[in-house]
Formats: sequence, structure tokens, C-alpha cells
Amino acid sequence: MPESLTSDGERWAPGRVLVLETQRFVLRSLTAKDATPTYVGWWNDPEIQEPFGFRPRNWGRDDAIRNIQRFDNRSWFNLGIFPKGVDLPVGFFVIFVEGGYRAKTLVVIGDKGWWGARVPLEVRARCLDFLFDEIGVVLVYGTVSPRNFASIYNYKVQGFAVDGVLRKQGLDAAGKPEDQIAFSMLAEEWRAKRGASS
Ligand SMILES: CC(C)(COP(=O)(O)OP(=O)(O)OC[C@H]1O[C@@H](n2cnc3c(N)ncnc32)[C@H](O)[C@@H]1OP(=O)(O)O)[C@@H](O)C(=O)NCCC(=O)NCCS
Repeated sequence: MPESLTSDGERWAPGRVLVLETQRFVLRSLTAKDATPTYVGWWNDPEIQEPFGFRPRNWGRDDAIRNIQRFDNRSWFNLGIFPKGVDLPVGFFVIFVEGGYRAKTLVVIGDKGWWGARVPLEVRARCLDFLFDEIGVVLVYGTVSPRNFASIYNYKVQGFAVDGVLRKQGLDAAGKPEDQIAFSMLAEEWRAKRGASS
């Protein structure tokens, strides 16, 4: 299993910038300098925000920096998804470790030129390794709108189980409560799947 690093190439420790590598991408904790107009634009894009039940945020650079700074690289991570050799991310992957034993994750591919390129599957696989093997959580889960077909497809293709329907726990694009579908993966399920495919 590749070890997780920090930005100067040393082994990662809680609180430090996290760097993970996949075949096509470097995942790195975002910092204030990553609050570029492109990144800020994703927070103001209805197509990106509505799946999460938000209207465009009307954010400026300072709002984006404040948000980035909420991630402590201990239990909250906001990892930019950088194609190798490129300094601008195409999206980001968020991890919330809850109670030290489980993690909620979500993914945004902000650069729509990368939609359809199976980025979420590649990035989430590396993050599952990190969460199960290094942080030691027993479960990783996510919730999606029943109309977010691409996300549902991605969870199913990756082998996540459907835990159930969370009635009215989300908001739709108009701000009306809507059901959410909960998906999860247990550590032993991921290890079996990873073992079977290596
Ligand atoms: C959701 C998101 C991450 C998906 O990105 P993506 O994986 O590149 O999306 P794709 O369009 O390739 O769809 C993924 C898969 O679902 C399939 N799919 C998409 N819409 C579908 C539909 N209506 N019916 C059936 N399958 C569908 C695609 O064919 C694709 O499968 P393939 O790889 O075998 O071709 C991206 O659209 C995004 O960031 N959206 C905004 C934020 C968001 O919704 N995040 C997730 C919240 S939980």
C-alpha cells in the first residue's frame, strides 16, 4: 500500500497537508492559494451546488478561503484533484471523519470537461485505502439525491451497499425537502474487493 505523504515528501501526520497519488491525479489538501477564480466559480455554479441542495452561494475569494481553512487535515479533509503535472484542480474530494470510526465523503468534479472520465471512481478508491488503512475507520458512507444518477451509478459500480432511503433528509434544487439514498462500504468489503481485483 503506498504511504500517504505531506507536501514536502515526508510521511503524512495529522494536521499536515495530505498528498495522495492515483494513476492520473495528485490529491492534495487545498490551501488558501487554491481559492482561484475557477475554484470559487464552482461554489457559484447551480449545476454543481444543486445536487447538494444549495443554491449558487454567491461566494467571493474570501468565502472560499474561510471554507478551505475549516479543514484541519485531522478529521476534515478537502483534497484538490490535480491532474499530474497541472497546478489547477479539476475538482475536490471531501472527507469528514466522524467519531474516529466512520467517514462521510463527497466528490465534486468542477471542471465539466472531466465529466465522463471516471475521476470519482479513481479518486475515491485511493481515499478508501487511506481511510481504512491509515485512519482506521470501519465504514465510509455517502448520501445522494435520488435524481443524481451519475453519483448513484458510481457508488454502485464501486461496490457500495445501499443502506436505505433517508426520507426527506436532503433538499432539492428549489429548497424543498427530498429523500436521500445512503450508500456505504465496510473496511472488510473494500479489502475483499481490492484483493479480488489485484
Ligand atoms: C456527480 C459527478 C461527480 C459525476 O461525475 P462523473 O463520474 O464524471 O459523471 P459521469 O457523467 O461520467 O457519470 C458517471 C457514470 O454514470 C452514468 N450515468 C450518468 N447519468 C446517467 C443516467 N441518467 N442514467 C444511467 N447512467 C448514468 C454515466 O454513463 C457514467 O458511467 P460510465 O462511466 O460507465 O459511462 C459530477 O457530475 C459532479 O461533480 N457533479 C456536481 C456535484 C455532485 O453532484 N457531486 C456528487 C454529490 S453526492
